[in-house]
Amino acid sequence: MKAVRIHSFGDAGVLKLEDVPKPAIGPDEVLVKVAACGVNPVDWKIREGFMEQMVHYALPLTLGWDVAGTVAETGALVRRFNEGDAVFCRPDTLRNGGYAEYVAVKTIELASAPRSIPLDHAAGIPLASQAAWMALFEVAGLKPGQKVLIHGASGGLGTFGVQFAKAAGAYVIGTTSAKNAGLVKSLGADEIIDHTSEDFSRKLKGMDVVFDTIGGETQAKSWGVLKKGGVLVSSVGADEKAAAANGVIGRSFVLNSNGARLQEISGLVDAGKVTVIIDKVLPLAEAKTAHELSQSGHAKGKIILNV
Ligand SMILES: NC(=O)c1ccc[n+]([C@@H]2O[C@H](COP(=O)([O-])OP(=O)(O)OC[C@H]3O[C@@H](n4cnc5c(N)ncnc54)[C@H](OP(=O)(O)O)[C@@H]3O)[C@@H](O)[C@H]2O)c1
Repeated sequence: MKAVRIHSFGDAGVLKLEDVPKPAIGPDEVLVKVAACGVNPVDWKIREGFMEQMVHYALPLTLGWDVAGTVAETGALVRRFNEGDAVFCRPDTLRNGGYAEYVAVKTIELASAPRSIPLDHAAGIPLASQAAWMALFEVAGLKPGQKVLIHGASGGLGTFGVQFAKAAGAYVIGTTSAKNAGLVKSLGADEIIDHTSEDFSRKLKGMDVVFDTIGGETQAKSWGVLKKGGVLVSSVGADEKAAAANGVIGRSFVLNSNGARLQEISGLVDAGKVTVIIDKVLPLAEAKTAHELSQSGHAKGKIILNV
């Protein structure tokens, strides 16, 4: 099969389209024929070698942990899925990913893909939507009527975060740049703050929750906008000492992929309550361009590789 792999860490030039063996599956696994694979910041962070302090990756490695496709083969113990089913998942990031014609995944990670959108759009959902869901509801415990500030509201996590928070009955404020303000409003944000021309920390106070997908100065300025005891949840790591010094809570998380959670999100998509915003769909052979766009930090929603 064709796959895009890396043999060494480095810039986007290390991505190579190659012929590789089809993966073998275990008894509780499914072989997915990949229709499309979402591109996420973790892909280029692993490619650059930035994750090596946390996890050691054996090379060569197939990147891509956001997959939609059809079941090509099932392991002996698999009952919930059958050949030909349309599925999607965030495969285990410690294994070979989905920049490939086939990927082996555990059934516990798998859900039925939404029927109302094409598979190349569904591929943008599993990783970012689950990260936003986990951050807002499982880590920060966002409740109806609370005020939430979502940084990076036009990005992968932010576009889902705004929709989930709004659907849960929260008052939603998003930071983005002026060019994406209309998009973020259309997803349900009550207020937008342009991070290129306005200082959110001068405009806001008393927030119950901040969802930080940016870090750095954005996070440092966020402690002061929370009410006492409020929660900042960060996808890039929260500075817990700074949180404590400000009388608020700082929480980090690492996404655990969960087919049941993803199935619930799939249902929300089919019910028309949540949509996936697609920046670009590119052919697999253009993985380099996709990485460069993701690494720019200014993707609008999701970038997809069509396999
Ligand atoms: N902990 C976990 O398990 C986990 C899971 C998923 C993702 N992550 C991490 O979370 C981060 C976000 O992921 P993502 O997929 O959402 O990234 P992304 O899609 O690449 O985010 C891009 C968006 O960020 C916006 N942005 C850039 N600088 C900004 C600023 N200063 N203020 C407000 N918005 C700004 C951009 O808007 P403009 O173009 O309008 O500026 C753009 O739309 C990444 O570092 C990723 O690795 C962690």
